[in-house]
Amino acid sequence: MSRLKVAVVGCGGAATGHALALANLADFEIVALVDPSERNLASFRTRVPAVADVPAYDDVEAMYDAGVEVEALTVVTPHTLHHPIVLGAIKRNLHVLCEKPLTCDPAHAREIESAAATAGVTVMVRYQRRFDPAYRYMREVIASGGLGELRSIMVSVGQRWLTNTKGTWRQDPALSGGGMLMDSGSHLADMLLWLVGKPVETVSALVDNAGSPVDINTAATVSFAGGVQGQLHVVGDLATTWMENVAVSGTNGLLRYEADPQHPWRTGRVVHYRDGELVQPVNLPEPPEIHEALLATIRGEAVNEAPPAAGIAVAELSEAIYRSAGQGGARVSVR
Ligand SMILES: NC(=O)c1ccc[n+]([C@@H]2O[C@H](COP(=O)([O-])OP(=O)(O)OC[C@H]3O[C@@H](n4cnc5c(N)ncnc54)[C@H](O)[C@@H]3O)[C@@H](O)[C@H]2O)c1
Repeated sequence: MSRLKVAVVGCGGAATGHALALANLADFEIVALVDPSERNLASFRTRVPAVADVPAYDDVEAMYDAGVEVEALTVVTPHTLHHPIVLGAIKRNLHVLCEKPLTCDPAHAREIESAAATAGVTVMVRYQRRFDPAYRYMREVIASGGLGELRSIMVSVGQRWLTNTKGTWRQDPALSGGGMLMDSGSHLADMLLWLVGKPVETVSALVDNAGSPVDINTAATVSFAGGVQGQLHVVGDLATTWMENVAVSGTNGLLRYEADPQHPWRTGRVVHYRDGELVQPVNLPEPPEIHEALLATIRGEAVNEAPPAAGIAVAELSEAIYRSAGQGGARVSVR
């Protein structure tokens, strides 16, 4: 089978991981880079030597105009640019792996879902925790009734975000669409929704911008169908690098996830209690690499594990959080 021809759109920090992964996988070929910043492109080529000779364009339209043969995009740009770039790709029958959040506006995410279904192309959101063995273990225990009746869930994420992102697009609402909630908070919002697996009914939230034009700290109470209570805490002015904690409680069990503050990526530890007894999670299945998962979905060999619906649900929750906070924490319906 021929290699999937991919263009990397947005060649900054996060695109490095995408391109290094793609360059190491036999089934992919990076055929174009897109970024308006010459400086960022030059630095990207030094971080990813495999793309040294790949042609670059300052805009997706310039790449299309040049007639580049491309089959898929990885979209790794500031948040509010995701919607027009992803929609434009779908209209050209291209597949997309889009960084989180899929869009900032729920209506935009719904538009993408519908356009992708019409075009018959795959759009996957890069919610990599869905491909993390510890989180997958937790979801499997919950979905198979291993906690009994699900009662409560708390998810929290913290980062030294306020100081680390000062002066960048991340604190410019026109490009970011929001603050820490739209950024790392998006991952934990997705985990909250994915682990519970039930519709959200109401949200009550407080947001503190801590002097920034965008949200820094968020505390949201989320109620789900079936009486499950959820808490989402996003801390953007953490005094250390990282914090990530999850606790899920059911009528006969408890699951806890805790990340190492210095090495957050895929080092999370899961602790599982069943009827008061510690259960050792064994043989955690090794999930597919996310670009390989994209390809398997495109080829019809796998279901899309992070479809546009995930982006819609997070965008709806985020919109409800901002709406509630704007009303002093009033309890609001989602959607
Ligand atoms: N999944 C994760 O864990 C994770 C981690 C970090 C960032 N991200 C996501 O990756 C995306 C980019 O974040 P980043 O940290 O790489 O930011 P960044 O600022 O390092 O890189 C963004 C790049 O996009 C480029 N760009 C701006 N406008 C563009 C346009 N119209 N077309 C093409 N490129 C354009 C910029 O020049 C820059 O090089 C965001 O969606 C962010 O949320 C995800």
